[in-house]
Amino acid sequence: MKDLTPAKESLDPIEIASRDEIMSLQLERMKKSLSHAYKNVAMYRERFDDAGVHPDDLSELSDLAKFPFTYKDDLRANYPFGLTAVPREDLVRIHASSGTTGKPTVVTYTQGDIDVWAEVVARSLCASGLKRGDTIHNAYGYGLFTGGLGAHYGIERLGATVVPMGGGQTEKQVSLITDFEPQGILVTPSYMLNILEGFHKAGLDPRACSLDVGVFGAEPWTNAMREEVEEAFDMHAVDIYGLSEIIGPGVANECVETKDGLHIWEDHFYPEIIDPQTGEVLPDGEKGELVFTTLTKQGMPMIRYRTRDLTRLMPGTARSMRRMEKITGRSDDMIILRGVNVFPTQVEEQVMATGGLAPYFQIELYKSGRMDAMRVHVEALPDAADELSRTASARMLTKHIKDMIGVSSEVVVGDPGSVARSQGKAVRVIDNRGQG
Ligand code: DLL
Repeated sequence: MKDLTPAKESLDPIEIASRDEIMSLQLERMKKSLSHAYKNVAMYRERFDDAGVHPDDLSELSDLAKFPFTYKDDLRANYPFGLTAVPREDLVRIHASSGTTGKPTVVTYTQGDIDVWAEVVARSLCASGLKRGDTIHNAYGYGLFTGGLGAHYGIERLGATVVPMGGGQTEKQVSLITDFEPQGILVTPSYMLNILEGFHKAGLDPRACSLDVGVFGAEPWTNAMREEVEEAFDMHAVDIYGLSEIIGPGVANECVETKDGLHIWEDHFYPEIIDPQTGEVLPDGEKGELVFTTLTKQGMPMIRYRTRDLTRLMPGTARSMRRMEKITGRSDDMIILRGVNVFPTQVEEQVMATGGLAPYFQIELYKSGRMDAMRVHVEALPDAADELSRTASARMLTKHIKDMIGVSSEVVVGDPGSVARSQGKAVRVIDNRGQG
């Protein structure tokens, strides 16, 4: 793999500023953001008043803990524009995410927000080892999802050439990558595995393609998956994180030279880790739920937004901005099986560590009598698809899951191609517990 460490001159000076400098900028911006929300959004005004706090009560960053949380349900309750803090004519963009139930959650942007967004995505791509003049294949979905357009504007801001491919049409993805010779690809890690399969189907060697780096996010993925993809394509794989409510992709990104967690772009997004049960702020280093306060967002400021993502904060390394550990999962994705907490990423690690299996899997939950039970659907690699190898792989994975995660499961090793392929964010869990 190439050394893609970015030149120091290409970094924004704030990325490597002193902690004091970063914190004083955060404090100044946090004060503005709290009063913008309080003045212009009825929900924040009522919540702050009920809690007996006022934006003037913030004199240091830790005072933020006095302010109330914001939840995803608040976006639904204020559908569509109740949390928008500027006149409608100042909005230039609306995105929305379709939840599994009820109304979609809507997020709104001013021109200034779009500019900040492009800047943080460009910064993320620079951290990933991409630069002006590169060609970047963007396979995040375009449309109401923030992935496609968020990445698109960031690529242009970097001064790179964007190929606005979007998701799906795997064969075409493969031929455009082959013909346009991009240095970078932006895509969900699960869909990257489909593209890998597309290379094999077309009889092409993925290691021989032009890609130097993949910037993967929008869903949890493990270091085991990183090794798999880096080896398969002979390229770097780095993690990009974000969520629509805060801006979209580009809230945090790994640095290609260290790959040791994601630097949060703290000059725009202020992170806290809280105990999800008590809401108490935890010190850096402790694991809990990630909460964000936007520091510069105009269209829809978010104050102490509960992401449900579980991680811990760590000091900066390649940049002065703090890092968050790779996300293990969301509190709502956690499966509780006979008292043991299980995240799909833990199963992913074990699938990757088991010989004879392809890197595709899906977890089925069902009732066995009155107890919840888990069945893991995986598939055999083409050269290990005979009965004997499958039985051995199934036994091995069952044992790995029992030993490493601590739960019993049934493993079904299907034919190559039998597990549903992701077109964007992978669906990892099928819950059949309600049915008989
Ligand atoms: O997924 C934004 C995005 C697009 C990020 C492209 C990165 C790349 P939402 O659809 O609102 O926005 O989903 C946000 O996805 O709260 C996490 O649970 C999950 N997520 C996003 N990035 C990562 C990541 C986009 N790198 C939700 N690792 C978040 C783990 C991630 N989970």
